[in-house]
This record gives sequence, structure tokens and C-alpha cells, in this order.
Amino acid sequence: MAITYSSLPKLKYFFSIFDTIKENKEIIKPWLKNQYDFELFSCSAISLYFIIKKISNTTEEENISIWIPDFFCNSSLEAIRDLNIEIIFYPINNNLTPNLEWCEINLKPEKTNIFLFVHYFGYIFNLQSVSEFCSKYKIWLIEDAAHVLLPTPEIGVYGDFIMYSPHKHLPIYDGAILIVTNRGNDKFKKSSALTITNKRIQLKSKYSEKVSKFLVFNWIIKRVIQLLGFRIYFPNYEFWPDHKKYNISFNHIRMSKISKLFLHRIAPELTNISKTRIKNCISWSEHLIKNKTEIKNVMLVDSFRVPYLAFFEISNIELMNKVFYKLKKMNFPITSWPDLPPELMKDENLHSVAIGLRKTRLYFHVHHSISGKDISKITSKINL
Ligand SMILES: Cc1ncc(COP(=O)(O)O)c(C=O)c1O
Repeated sequence: MAITYSSLPKLKYFFSIFDTIKENKEIIKPWLKNQYDFELFSCSAISLYFIIKKISNTTEEENISIWIPDFFCNSSLEAIRDLNIEIIFYPINNNLTPNLEWCEINLKPEKTNIFLFVHYFGYIFNLQSVSEFCSKYKIWLIEDAAHVLLPTPEIGVYGDFIMYSPHKHLPIYDGAILIVTNRGNDKFKKSSALTITNKRIQLKSKYSEKVSKFLVFNWIIKRVIQLLGFRIYFPNYEFWPDHKKYNISFNHIRMSKISKLFLHRIAPELTNISKTRIKNCISWSEHLIKNKTEIKNVMLVDSFRVPYLAFFEISNIELMNKVFYKLKKMNFPITSWPDLPPELMKDENLHSVAIGLRKTRLYFHVHHSISGKDISKITSKINL
């Protein structure tokens, strides 16, 4: 059976609509390591908006600078671009860590700075130097774990906020978890400045408090069709798309009830889901690089945890285009990442690492609805 872009729900999850909904704390137990505050949103782009809104309770919006890695999705910034804040795209190094020397030179310590660190692709990074930098200059630290399925001992050790996006990994309609560690309250000597008490956040009217029943229904129908074996493809998906084509993942603010019900049913299966993702990642690398010298395995093997995607390098840009469109033509669920922010093109030299990675990396899905057999079968058909 052909591979899908996202994992498919089991039929039994649909029966969860008859379950009584559990408390939020119970539903997100696998993500809540400590007695931290948390909020549930539709997606992490909205979590990010919420963080800035909360920090703006302690300072003026125009005084806020948010530091985003240049290797980041423009679509995920759609909500925060509505705010009156400065967005700085800091360069990353080849190993996906922040170029802290550049950040230190360009920092304006008199501003309220917020630093976003990404745990890319589910790999684990050492945040000590980032944390020292943030503590030295009293900078809020966000650990963006949108690519991480479940917490690991390393995540959340230093951050003031942790963002998870389970909707990216699991067969649920929507869903992001924002954890507020309240560590920042000590750092900034502002007692409970960020305690989540005010439930309502003012977002632009284009984001709704209500979840669209029509879109949820659409999602269910699509998944049922896929479960029956039919496949939906996106033949127009381009390798280097126009950034305007991509939007925020969801236009509503809160996690939907159906995702909460599904999540509760999925929870006991998370260990197996993690194991399958790891196995699939290994399968892709074993099968893809075999006899195909143009495709290089560049995954960070030393910090390998539960992967978000498997990725490979094709350093020749012409060949990359050829491979991408050839695989697309075969209805192969291939993807490129990310839709880079357009600002980067104004200084290609500064952002050369991010642009280079964007142009030379190809991504393969590893979700748990894919089997090793699927991977072996499909890769045997690739004749580059
Ligand atoms: C690193 C990273 N952070 C955050 C986001 C935003 O996630 P969401 O789709 O939950 O808004 C994305 C989206 O692709 C991402 O790649």
C-alpha cells in the first residue's frame, strides 16, 4: 500500500467520540514531566503567539525582540508577524546549533529578548551554552520541541517555555502543548509574571476560538478514505515553493475536543509508535543510500532519538531537482523543509548555512503507518 504523508488513525480511535473527555492534565500526562503550567493550542505557531502576549504583560510589545533561527518555517511565524515586535533571524551552524558569536555581537541587551532554540528533527542538543548566553543577558528561552514526539531528560532543563506539536507526529486533527516552566519568573524576579491565569488571549479576528466542524468532518472523511486504501497526492508541491503558498497550520486557537479524545486513546501506544519511527528512519537510510552514491546520509547519528523525518543530502542542486521531481512523479511522499522566511534572501551570505541546507536536503516520512516492507518495496523502484 502506498505511503501517506501523515500517520493514519486506527478505526477504534473514532469510537472515542463516545468517551467522556478527561481533564487536560490527564490527557497530556506523557508530556508533563513536572508540576508545570501548561496550555493546549491548535498548533505551536499559536503557542508562540501566546508566549509573546504573556511576556508583553511585563513590557511594551515594541520593546520585544524575538530571535528565531534562520532555518525555520515562515508559515509558523504568520501569527506573530501580526504583533508589533522585532523578529531577528539568527544564523545557525552546520550542526544545526545557533551561531552564538553572531547573536552576542548583535544583541541589544536593553530590549526584552526572547530566544527560540529548535530541537531539530527530534535530535537532542546540548543547550548549556545557549542557556548561559540567555542567563547572562536575561533572555527568555523557548525550547521549540515541535519536532520531538515525547519529552526526553534533556528537554526543558533550561527553557522557560517548551513547545510540543503532537499533531505533527500522531494521527490527530490538531494539537500543540505549551509548557511554562516558570523558571523565568526567578530569572527576571517577577513573581508569577507568566502564570497562566488569564484564559483568553486576544488574537487577530482571523483566528477563531471555535473549531470548524466542517474542517474536522473533512479531516475524518479524508482519513477514512485513506484507511480504505485510497491515496491523495499533492502533485503540485514544488521543491522551492513560493513562501506565500504556505499558511499557519490551523486558523483556530485551541486544541479541538476530537484531538483530546484521540490523544487519550493513543497514549498507551506511544512507546511502540516511537520504536516504529526509529526503525523506519534506519530503514530509509539502509535502503536509500545502498548503491546510490548521490544520496548521502547526513543524519546526526550520535544524537539520534525519535526522529521527526529522515533526511539525506544531495549536494548537486541540479541533481536534487531531478531527483525530487522524479520521485514526485512516482507519487512518492517526498518533502523539502522549511519554507524559509523571505527576509533571508536579503543577506544570503549571513544565512548561507540555512539556505544551503534547504537546497541540498531531502526529507522522508517515518511515521508509524509506514512499515519496513513499504520502504523496501518503494526504494527498490527508485532508479536514479
Ligand atoms: C521547528 C518548528 N517549530 C514550530 C513549528 C510550528 O508548528 P505548528 O505546525 O504546530 O504550528 C514548525 C512547523 O513546521 C517547526 O518546523
